[in-house]
Parts: sequence; C-alpha cells; structure tokens
Amino acid sequence: MTGKWSPTQYLKFADQRTRPARDLLAAVPTVEVRRAVDLGCGPGNSTELLIHRWPEADVSGIDSSQEMIVSARERLPRPKFDVADIASWQSAPEYDLIFANAVLQWLPDHRALLPRLAEGLASGGTLAIQVPDNLMEPSHVGMRKAAEDSRWKTRLKDAAGERTEIMTPAEYYDALMPHFDHVDVWKTIYNHPLKGIDGIVEWFKSTGLKPFLARLVNEERDAFLDLYESIIAEHYPVQRDGTVLLAFPRLFIVAMKS
Ligand SMILES: C[S@@+](CC[C@H](N)C(=O)[O-])C[C@H]1O[C@@H](n2cnc3c(N)ncnc32)[C@H](O)[C@@H]1O
Repeated sequence: MTGKWSPTQYLKFADQRTRPARDLLAAVPTVEVRRAVDLGCGPGNSTELLIHRWPEADVSGIDSSQEMIVSARERLPRPKFDVADIASWQSAPEYDLIFANAVLQWLPDHRALLPRLAEGLASGGTLAIQVPDNLMEPSHVGMRKAAEDSRWKTRLKDAAGERTEIMTPAEYYDALMPHFDHVDVWKTIYNHPLKGIDGIVEWFKSTGLKPFLARLVNEERDAFLDLYESIIAEHYPVQRDGTVLLAFPRLFIVAMKS
C-alpha cells in the first residue's frame, strides 16, 4: 500500500537525489561492463549514469511502478525497461553490474535477498547498492509521531513497517562475504540544501511519506502534512539565507566477485 510513485514529484529534486547514485557508481572499479541492470530504476536517472559510463554496454532497468517505467522510456529510448518486482527478480549469472540505488529499503529480508541478487552476476561482476539509513532521523521519527494522532492512528499502524530496517555495515559484510571476494561498505551523510521546512515535506512526499499518505483520504493528507511539518520544524533550523539543511545518512555497498 505504498501508493503510486510519481516521477514528477520524485524529479523535483533530481540533481540532489542522483548525487548518491553518482557517488555509488564512482566507487565501482574500472571494469569492462557488457551487461548491466538497474534495479528500481525509477525515471531512469540512475540508468542514464550507467549508459554514460559504459556507452557500449547492454543496459536495462526494472521497476515495479508502471509510471516510473513510462518516464524512464521517455527519457532513454535505447535501454529495455520492464515493470517487474525485485522481490521475484532472478537471473542467470549474466550481469557484470547489478546496480540498486535507493530501492532495496522497500524490500524485506536483505539476508535472503542479497545472495539471490548475487546469483545474477557473471564472474568478475559487481553488486552496487545504496540505501537510505534515515529511519532514526527527525524526518522519519516525525512521520511515525504524526501517525500516532488519534484521527488516523488505526489506519496508519502498518505504514512505517513498509520500510525495511537496514542492517549494520558489519552485518552486511558478514552476509555478503560468502558470496563475494571483496566487500566495501561505507556511510555518507549528505546535507541537502532545501527551500525552507516545506522543502523537506516536498522531498519526502514522493518517498518516505508515501505509505502514510496512501492510507489517508485527500483532506486528511493536508492535515497530516501540516502536523508532520510542525513536528519536524524544530529539528531543522533555518539558515541565514532561508535554506534548511536536510541531513541524510545513506549506506553504500560495493561487492565484487573475482
Ligand atoms: C527512490 S526511487 C530510486 C530511483 C532511482 N534508482 C534513483 O537512483 O534515483 C525508488 C524506486 O524503486 C521502485 N521500487 C520500490 N519497490 C520496488 C520493488 N519491490 N521492485 C522494483 N522496484 C521497486 C519505485 O517504484 C521507485 O521507482
């Protein structure tokens, strides 16, 4: 019940949202990539990076949202984009790169999921992942607090659970090493400059807030967002020029087979 993904809302912050994908890709070693897949490709912004780096490669993308796939096809006519769920995605060992930027936080049980993804890699292949590590940030604590309001508490009781609690770097390392020869895990905290507190609300409307908003009717959504904004405001002071810095920790993993 995450609700529909909106390419337009997501791309309001296209440049800042694509930066972690660029940083993830920069950590993928210089290897020859003949086949690559972008899991949870969204509107194709991350796929475009793969094509720029390996213009000769056969690059494809999958996403569970029809709207996102339509948007990706409009952006990039050449790659094959399909509507598909990563939960049931499985491949023969044919990819040199499996790229999953900002998507696996919506899938449960990473201990079972990651070895399954690894099976799709050819020898020498790389699995590159970035997941938000922000469930304990004021932005997300605030969503759960707003969901406690008696007007919608019962209906929102399962909303927060749609996001998977990611593991620690040490747990990812142990989970991946049996399937790879080299595992690099690191964390980066971005400080995204946004226009006022409203900018934070707009940012999360297309991602973290979706499971909450999808369970509310129209008038309630505005009331929920007003309450949410009032809860998080004290945690995001306004800079002298009116900007608010959204601190956003993200976990990166680059795992390679030899
Ligand atoms: C935050 S966007 C990331 C888009 C892009 N990869 C990027 O780097 O900006 C997350 C995308 O994951 C997709 N998604 C969520 N759950 C999915 C699943 N189970 N299988 C495939 N795609 C999924 C959503 O539809 C959405 O387009």
